[in-house]
Amino acid sequence: MSEIYSVAMHQIVKKFGSVIANDHVDFRAKPGEIHALLGENGAGKSTMMCMLSGVYRPTSGEILIQGQQARIRSPKDAMKLGVGMVFQNFRLVQNLTAAENIVLGEASSFWRGPNWMKRKQEEIEALANRFGLGFPVDRPIWQLSVGEQQRVEIVKTLYRGADLIILDEPTSVLTPGEAEQLFETLFQMKADGKTVILTTHKLKEVMASSDRISVMRKGKLTHTIDKSDTNERELARLMVGKELAPPKPLASRPAGKPLLVVDQLDVFADHGRRALNQLQLTVHTGEIVGIAGVAGNGQSELAEVLTGLRAWRKGSITFNGKELRNGSVRDAIEAGISHVPENRMKSGLAGSLGAVDNLLFKSYRSKERSIFGFLRTGANRAWSQSLVEQFDVKTPSVDTPVRQLSGGNQQKLLFAREVHHDPLLMVAVHPTQGLDVGATEGVHRLLTQMRGEGKSVLLISEDLDEVMQLSDRILVIYNGQMVGELARGEASREQIGMYMAGVHDSGEEKAV
Ligand SMILES: Nc1ncnc2c1ncn2[C@@H]1O[C@H](COP(=O)(O)OP(=O)(O)O)[C@@H](O)[C@H]1O
Ligand SMILES: [Mg+2]
Repeated sequence: MSEIYSVAMHQIVKKFGSVIANDHVDFRAKPGEIHALLGENGAGKSTMMCMLSGVYRPTSGEILIQGQQARIRSPKDAMKLGVGMVFQNFRLVQNLTAAENIVLGEASSFWRGPNWMKRKQEEIEALANRFGLGFPVDRPIWQLSVGEQQRVEIVKTLYRGADLIILDEPTSVLTPGEAEQLFETLFQMKADGKTVILTTHKLKEVMASSDRISVMRKGKLTHTIDKSDTNERELARLMVGKELAPPKPLASRPAGKPLLVVDQLDVFADHGRRALNQLQLTVHTGEIVGIAGVAGNGQSELAEVLTGLRAWRKGSITFNGKELRNGSVRDAIEAGISHVPENRMKSGLAGSLGAVDNLLFKSYRSKERSIFGFLRTGANRAWSQSLVEQFDVKTPSVDTPVRQLSGGNQQKLLFAREVHHDPLLMVAVHPTQGLDVGATEGVHRLLTQMRGEGKSVLLISEDLDEVMQLSDRILVIYNGQMVGELARGEASREQIGMYMAGVHDSGEEKAV
C-alpha cells in the first residue's frame, strides 16, 4: 500500500560552504496532520523548511509534493504547489495595511474598481475569522502588535491557497495565551484538511499541538514518532542526545539592600515612541531579578539606559547609593554594571577581531593591560589565554576572529569579559538565545554563581522557563511599565502570561 504524502523529502542535503546544514534528511508529512519538527538551535530546521518554501535549493536530494516530484525554485513555485511559509522574521511592508499586504501583487490598480479594496477586506476578514485570526485589516502593519502581524502572515498563506502551512518557531514572539490561540488556529486548519508543519525547540508546545514529531539533531533527522507514543522526557533526550539532569532549584534567601533603584524613568525609542513610561524598578544585592515580557515592550531600552547606551528623558537611576550619569557608558562600567547585550555580534563582540582584542575592550585603560598608553601585548595574550581556559571558550587560538566561533563560545567569551572585572550588577539580555542545551546550562551556572557571590543579576529574557528557573523575583514588563511582580515559587505560567498580555488580576486589559 502506498500512501500519498503532502510532502516527502528524500535524502536531502544542504551545504552552506563547509557547513552541512541538512545531512541526507528523509521527511514525510501526511495530509491533515500537525507535524512538529523539533530540534535545538542550529539543528537544521529552518534550512529544511526553506527548501520546501523555495527560499533555498537543496544541494542534492528530491522533494515530492502530493506524490509528484517538485521543482521548487522560488517562493512563487512553492505557492503554486500549495506550500506557504510563515517565517521567523516577518516579511510585511510596514506602511501598507494588513489587507494590502495580503493582496500584494494580485491585480494592478488599473484593473481595480472603486470598491475593489473594500471587497477584498471583507473577503480577508471572513477568511481570518474562520480560523480565529482576527486583526484590523485596514490598519498599517506598523500599528499592529507582533502577534497580529503573525496573523497577517498566516492569513496571507491561506489567502493564496496554501494546503501545506509551515510555521517557523511561531511562538517565540507570542505570550503563552497567544500561543494557545495559535494552536486553536492550527487545529482548525487540520480540521479543514490542511497539513501543518511547526518547527520548535519547545517540548511543551510539541506535546500540546502535534500529531507526529520529527526530531532533528546536528543536521540529521533522527526520529519520527507519534505523539501518543512519546513524552517530554524522551523527546528531550532525542533532541539533545543525552539524558538531562533536572535543574537544581535555587535556595531562597532574604534579599540584601537595594543596589539599583530606577525611579519614574521615561525613555523614548529611536522613532520617538515612548519605550519606558515612569518605570519603577529595584534590584537588591545578591538577587536575580527576571524581567518577563513579550518582545518590544521596553526590554531593550531598559537594558540600554542601565548600561549607558541610551539617555533617559525624565526620572533617575541610583546605583550603589550614587546617581548614575545620564547616557554614560563609562559611568555605568565604572559603577560596576556589566552587560551581556541581546545581539552579541552586533553590540557585544567585534567579529573580525580575536579573543584578546575582544576581552580588552573594557579594560585596556587599566594598568595591568597597558603602560603609558601602550598595550602590554605579551601579558595580555597570557591573560586572554587564561580567561579563555577558565571560561571554557573553544577557539583555535586567541587571535582567531570571533565570528568563526559557535554562538555558545561567543557567549562564553562575552561572559568572560563581563564577569572577570567583578561587576556588582550584570544586565543579561536573552543570554541563552541561540545556544544549545550545554551552553545554556553553562550560562545558567555562571548567573547563579554570581548570585552566590552576592552579586546581582537583571535577567531580561523571553524564555519563560529560564526566567522562572533562575529568578528570585519576576517582574513583567508591558508597554514600558512593570505591571506585575511575583516571588519565586508563587509565579505560575498562567499568571505571568496574563501580565504579559497586559491583563490584570481584575481580568481587564490595562489601559495604555
Ligand atoms: N544562510 C546560511 N549560511 C551559512 N550557514 C547557515 C545559513 N543558514 C543556516 N546556516 C547554518 O546551518 C545550520 C542549521 O541552521 P538552521 O537551519 O537555521 O537551524 P535551526 O533552524 O534548527 O535553528 C547552522 O549551523 C547554521 O549556522
Ligand atoms: Mg530556525
